[in-house]
Amino acid sequence: MVAIMMKHVTKTYGHDLSKVQALQDIDFQADFGQLIGVVGPSGSGKSTFLEIVGGLLTPTSGTIKIDNQSYQDLSASQRENLRLNKIGFVLQAYNLVPYLTISEQFELVKHVKKTANMTANEFQQVIQRLQIDPLLDKYPETLSGGQQQRAAIARALFANPQIILADEPTAALDTKRAFEVMEIFRDLAHSTKKTIIVVTHDTRLEKYVDQLYNINDGKMEFVQ
Ligand SMILES: Nc1ncnc2c1ncn2[C@@H]1O[C@H](COP(=O)(O)OP(=O)(O)OP(=O)(O)O)[C@@H](O)[C@H]1O
Ligand SMILES: [Mg+2]
Repeated sequence: MVAIMMKHVTKTYGHDLSKVQALQDIDFQADFGQLIGVVGPSGSGKSTFLEIVGGLLTPTSGTIKIDNQSYQDLSASQRENLRLNKIGFVLQAYNLVPYLTISEQFELVKHVKKTANMTANEFQQVIQRLQIDPLLDKYPETLSGGQQQRAAIARALFANPQIILADEPTAALDTKRAFEVMEIFRDLAHSTKKTIIVVTHDTRLEKYVDQLYNINDGKMEFVQ
């Protein structure tokens, strides 16, 4: 089943002399149940691509469908709903709420999205695999970059979205924990039929993905 379909997507920032063509004629497809990697160097367009998939940015041209729905055909509130219920982000900046403890970050998810979150059991497993238990009563500013990153990943997973979009989710992690995160993503994609897209410059992560794309200067190519 097709989760994401992009055809001829382009994105241009700025005007005239300051114009940047961040994405060029992107064709992309992802099915449910797949972990997908998009690998490319800094400035190649990875974050732009992910933000367009997630409906945070509008493409300059081309079409995108999420679970057969086109963002263009939805009202602002329908788009909000689609994002809230179907899509989870792990953004490059971790976006934890500074004045909430880690466990309160999860409470906040429950408050905003009242249903269809992970069961207590599923969540406990994720917490253990990401080694977050000792951090639950702490505030983000007292955690290391890697600890914040793991907490942000757990928060996205807790909401249990069908589609997870992760921007450099392992950048602050040591190799062992980076690999553990990729294993969690792969297990979840396969066992719960999610689509998980990881964009990264880290080619060591390639071995975990079901499908791999490279992106360079805004051009995307399917590798395998
Ligand atoms: N808001 C913006 N306004 C103008 N140019 C932008 C904007 N955001 C990104 N760009 C440009 O678009 C190109 C792609 O940027 P993008 O952030 O998507 O790259 P990236 O692959 O995510 O890089 P990184 O690995 O450093 O995060 C770059 O040339 C960047 O300078
Ligand atoms: Mg980026």
